[in-house]
Amino acid sequence: IAALPDDYTIRPLRRSDYSRGYLDVLRVLTTVGEISEEMWNKRYEWITSRNDEYYMLVVCDGEDRIVGTGSLIVERKFIHSLGMVGHIEDIAVEKNQQGKKLGLRIIQALDHVAAQVGCYKSILDCSEVNEGFYVKCGFKRAGLEMAHYY
Ligand code: ACO
Repeated sequence: IAALPDDYTIRPLRRSDYSRGYLDVLRVLTTVGEISEEMWNKRYEWITSRNDEYYMLVVCDGEDRIVGTGSLIVERKFIHSLGMVGHIEDIAVEKNQQGKKLGLRIIQALDHVAAQVGCYKSILDCSEVNEGFYVKCGFKRAGLEMAHYY
């Protein structure tokens, strides 16, 4: 298990993380848009009302600023005797905090949750540039991603 730097913590997302820079960390990943606090609260309520389905983690630095995040969504299936699959989504580490093993620590924590809740595997989609990172996290290339945008 990778250690976090001194003073850094990893914990579940909180409603108050809106003002700790959560959305700015996600901006290293993709476009986020303008999310008001009211919009944030509504989505936060929805996500946290889904019991045992969403696990959203953040890494905070010593000043309680968010510097990294990642999510696990647990899918309940009929196949494989009511099997569960973990979907790892939206992994992001602030630019000037990359390379400190924070990404690895986030994946390890999400993997641990997935195994604990009973998932038989976790899967994710990523671009070729990130393949090496996920290989170091213990993942291997499997299948082919297809998308249909609306
Ligand atoms: N290619 C190859 N190896 C890499 C890469 C990469 N792109 N990124 C990191 N690594 C290696 C590191 O060198 C390190 O190797 P080592 O143990 O031999 O030293 C190991 O992977 C762990 O790296 P971390 O320091 O934990 O990586 P970091 O904290 O910088 O996080 C991340 C990696 C999340 C990809 C970060 O660079 C980032 O936020 N990028 C922009 C957003 C992004 O692309 N997110 C992933 C989208 S895919 C998804 O969300 C499912």
